[in-house]
Amino acid sequence: MYVWPCAVVLAQYLWAHRQSLPEKRVLEIGAGVSLPGVVAARCGAQVILSDSEELPQCLQSCRSSCLMNHLPHVPVLGLTWGRVSPELLSLAPIDIILGSDVFFDPKDFEDILTTIYFLLEKNPRAQFWTTYQVRSADWSIEALLHKWNLKSIHVPLHSFGADKEHLASSSMPGRHTIEMMIISLAQSEGTSLYSTLDCSTR
Ligand SMILES: C[S@@+](CC[C@H](N)C(=O)[O-])C[C@H]1O[C@@H](n2cnc3c(N)ncnc32)[C@H](O)[C@@H]1O
Repeated sequence: MYVWPCAVVLAQYLWAHRQSLPEKRVLEIGAGVSLPGVVAARCGAQVILSDSEELPQCLQSCRSSCLMNHLPHVPVLGLTWGRVSPELLSLAPIDIILGSDVFFDPKDFEDILTTIYFLLEKNPRAQFWTTYQVRSADWSIEALLHKWNLKSIHVPLHSFGADKEHLASSSMPGRHTIEMMIISLAQSEGTSLYSTLDCSTR
């Protein structure tokens, strides 16, 4: 499987905020090779990885990444966006949801945001940290964020040293337009964590 450029950028964000990660409860969705989740786990977070329950080869990629990075105890779950499954309902409390390059097909955008809304309703102070690749100027999640009572903060890449053509020995991000945002409940104190993290790296 492929590590998408967005994953390198999100991993860089986690690395820049590594001091705040120990003991944080983190869920990665659409994890694939799971680079951000692996970095979070290696920095001391309690990580759960997930990918579509209908794509066993992607779930196997999550498991393989954990084994290769000496993280045999990281749980891997089948979580399909937009589906309220027993696995979703029984998830333990979480602080941070990660998603790198999950907004790649507009037909999935509402399913992703319904899952995120469900998780944030259960964990009102949690945040969704997500990187996406600008593939079309027409694509927008603004209306869906409003519909699901969510808000987003744009995180400039230069604020965490990711505005480079080469990042962590990878040239991938430089050839693509990658953006990062943090999504939280529209009425919540969810931005306070970001403010704290942001200040800590200045
Ligand atoms: C573009 S890849 C990104 C993979 C990884 N996050 C990265 O950045 O390297 C999209 C990921 O979303 C997963 N995915 C696609 N449709 C999904 C769905 N309906 N529910 C959950 N995961 C899904 C795929 O299996 C794949 O791992």
